[in-house]
Amino acid sequence: MKNNIEEYLKKIDEIILSHLGGNHISGTIAEASRYSIKSGGKRFRPYLLFAALDAFSIPLDKGLKTASAIEMIHTYSLIHDDLPAMDDDDLRRGNPTNHKVFGEAAAILAGDNLLTESFHLIVNDEKLSGGTRLELVRIIADSAGQNGMIGGQMLDIEAENEEITFEELETIHKYKTGRLISAPVHAAVTIAEADAETASHLLRFSEYLGIIFQIRDDILDVTGDVKVTGKNTGSDARKDKVTYVSAFGLEGAKERMEQKVSLAEAELDAVKRTIDITELKNVLNKFAIRDN
Ligand code: IPE
Ligand code: IPE
Ligand code: MG
Ligand code: MG
Ligand code: MG
Repeated sequence: MKNNIEEYLKKIDEIILSHLGGNHISGTIAEASRYSIKSGGKRFRPYLLFAALDAFSIPLDKGLKTASAIEMIHTYSLIHDDLPAMDDDDLRRGNPTNHKVFGEAAAILAGDNLLTESFHLIVNDEKLSGGTRLELVRIIADSAGQNGMIGGQMLDIEAENEEITFEELETIHKYKTGRLISAPVHAAVTIAEADAETASHLLRFSEYLGIIFQIRDDILDVTGDVKVTGKNTGSDARKDKVTYVSAFGLEGAKERMEQKVSLAEAELDAVKRTIDITELKNVLNKFAIRDN
């Protein structure tokens, strides 16, 4: 590894917390927004962005603000996902969910705040050219919005208590989770100015990774240990969600995950002569496959 990713992950927290603790007119919004960041989480999306930059030997400094912004958007998606109107969950990242502590109005606004403020970090990133910042805003807005996470979350809610096809289930996973997992890879290939062929292999890798990640999340909703995941099991069954486990059983879900892992690895192998894929392979092993 040419870069120390763990060290940069700590900087992500510093950047976000300092931005949120800076100039603000509501102490409650600052506190509620910082609460869900301080609760932790795996920082998988920043890790992925750094691993992809590392593949191109780009200094990780260049991805710090963008990785922080994506983590803010991801954290907002979790705060809203837990609201009573959505999955109605009480525990997140090992702590009571945002609305349980601050009330629903503050939790909604804290989520909105994390989303909105995330773009400040990218727009003010002096390590990147103006053109790159603009492109990153476009990529990230696209991944988070109506054709990204938000679109997928709406499909997920509408599918509760419904019969859906396998294709529809995969579409939900692709958008609600996959788009915010592709975003860090897309951002990294943009910062690295990767050639079109390498970029398209890495983007396809990230698309498989998004599905793998959500299948694993579905499995952990049944088999997970709250002390490790920081969230209660059984949430999906309680809300009558269609998941890989409800559709195919535990073994079937694992098999389908393994198929996607092979496809993801094949995309990495296709570019291993031009870039160093060591850290990206680690991402698969470290986050996608372990603990099942
Ligand atoms: C949970 O994401 C929601 C999904 C998209 C599956 P993570 O598993 O990355 O949650 P944190 O960030 O570690 O809390
Ligand atoms: C959430 O999927 C995807 C998001 C966009 C937040 P889940 O609803 O399964 O995530 P968890 O299990 O609550 O973290
Ligand atoms: Mg959900
Ligand atoms: Mg949920
Ligand atoms: Mg889940």
